[in-house]
Formats: sequence, structure tokens, C-alpha cells
Amino acid sequence: MPDRLQAALAAAREAVANVIDARPAFSNAPVDAAMRYALEGGKGLRGFLVLQGAKLHGVEYPDAAHAAAAIECIHAYSLVHDDLPCMDDDDLRRGRPTVHRKWDEATAVLAGDALQSVAFELILSSNYEDGVKVDLTKALAVAARHMVEGQALDIAAESAAEALTLDQVENLQALKTGALIRWSARAGALLAKADPGPLDAYGRALGVAFQIADDILDVEGDEAQTGKRVRKDAEAGKATFVSHLGLDGAKARAAELVAEAEAALESYAADAEILRETARFVIERDL
Ligand code: IPE
Ligand code: IPE
Ligand code: MG
Ligand code: MG
Ligand code: MG
Repeated sequence: MPDRLQAALAAAREAVANVIDARPAFSNAPVDAAMRYALEGGKGLRGFLVLQGAKLHGVEYPDAAHAAAAIECIHAYSLVHDDLPCMDDDDLRRGRPTVHRKWDEATAVLAGDALQSVAFELILSSNYEDGVKVDLTKALAVAARHMVEGQALDIAAESAAEALTLDQVENLQALKTGALIRWSARAGALLAKADPGPLDAYGRALGVAFQIADDILDVEGDEAQTGKRVRKDAEAGKATFVSHLGLDGAKARAAELVAEAEAALESYAADAEILRETARFVIERDL
């Protein structure tokens, strides 16, 4: 990963952590600890996208950090629930035991629920203008619902009599993973009351490319590097780009999407270089 990108991701994680640390503790100690645990240790890509999109429009870190923390809360909630025994049944996340393994299932369900509420609370208790709060909140509510709709399709596909078509897989991935990434990419424009069109197109392509890369990592990746169990998708009968197109086909589709994401940023010229680097990183990553 380019040094500049690595440093910017670290700065974004710190900005998000500062917002989270400033919050009062949740009144139930185990759930509070589980929420904080679930927020730690990820790449912080979604919060980073919010901050970079905001920066492109002249909104700097402290002001965009509430929106960045909000999406990391929704993402963390989605992972805590994704790992539950009734979903993907995973024991390892970000190199550590999953929340339901470290605590128990009830704590994991409640921590996920609470993280979702906190996300909306963070935006609504920020100093953003009311109109901006409405735009961000409404779009986040839709994105979080889309994530759940995608998760539902993903789980249903495991036991479906017929395999999903490639178009259905792309739709599923745009929902389960794409929606939160797309919100992250366009949030900066919403914060600045600018046209979200180019960042939206970037985020739409990036989101699907990101999940294709995740599916490739499930086949080619390494548990020590990714921090989560690998080679689970085929075993579970998941419908992925890899199950349809094979590894080479999936990589080619991901590269096409990255080119689309980069092209969407044309109007920002050199200012968007770090977002182009991000798109390339998303499919080259090994974690
Ligand atoms: C993992 O997302 C789940 C998917 C949507 C594929 P990330 O790869 O961004 O996970 P963390 O936040 O870095 O752990
Ligand atoms: C998860 O997709 C997407 C979410 C909405 C959480 P996966 O189930 O493939 O994510 P990992 O591989 O467990 O991180
Ligand atoms: Mg899953
Ligand atoms: Mg999973
Ligand atoms: Mg996966």
C-alpha cells in the first residue's frame, strides 16, 4: 500500500476513535465493552472515504469526523451480526475472537443493535446544518437497510435450489457491501452541499469491486493476514463472482470496476489522486 494511503487511513482511524472516545459509556458494561471492541482493528476504509470526500469539497477532518464515525459504527454492527452462528458462524474477526465468542450471542446482538443507534445519534447530535443532517441520515438509513437486504439475499442463496445469475450476484453485492461504501464515498459531497454525482459513481463501482476482492481473498487469502477465517464461501455455498467467473474472471471484473471508479473522478483532476489510489488498493489488498 502506498505510504501516503497508509498514513491517511491511520489518520482517519484516529479521527473516528476520537469521536467514539468522547461518547459517554453505554450503561451496560459488557455491551459497552463489546461495542468498543467491535470498532477496533479494522482498516477504517469507510470512515476514510468520508473524510477524503469531505476534504475534496473543502470540509476538513474535525467537521467530517462524526459522519466518518457513524459509518464505522454501522459497518462494525454489520460485521458483529454477520459473524453470528445464525449467519456466517465465524470465530475470528480482525485477528481476534468474534464478539459472540468473546462474550456471548446476546451481547453480540445487543452491541450490534446499539452500534446502529449510535451511528444515527452521532450524525443527529453533530453541529451539521439541519438540512445536511436530514440528507446524511436519510441516505444512511437507506444504505443500512440495503446492507440488510443484501445479507438476506446472501443467506437465502446458500440454500437456494438454483444458483444466482451473475446479475443477481452483482445486485446482492451492491446491496450487502456496496451500499455502505457508496454512502461513505458520497457523504463528503452531502456535507458540503455539493453535487454528489461523481463520488456516488465512484462509490458504486468501488463497493462492488471491494466485495469481489473480499470473495477472492476468501479463496486465495491467508487467515494470519486477513484476520478472519478463509475458504468458507464455497463450503457454505455462497454465490460470489468467483463461483461464477472463476478467479481470473472475478479479478478481471474487479479491475474493470476500479477503472470505472477512477474514471468517475475525472472532474476532480489531481485532487482525487488518493481516492484513485484507494480504488487500486481495494483490489490489490491482502487484508
Ligand atoms: C469486511 O469489510 C466485510 C465486507 C464488507 C467484505 P472490511 O474488509 O472493510 O473489514 P475491516 O473493517 O477492515 O475489518
Ligand atoms: C459481509 O460479507 C458483508 C456484510 C454486510 C457484513 P462477508 O460475509 O463476505 O464478510 P466477511 O468475509 O465475513 O468479512
Ligand atoms: Mg456474510
Ligand atoms: Mg462473513
Ligand atoms: Mg467474505
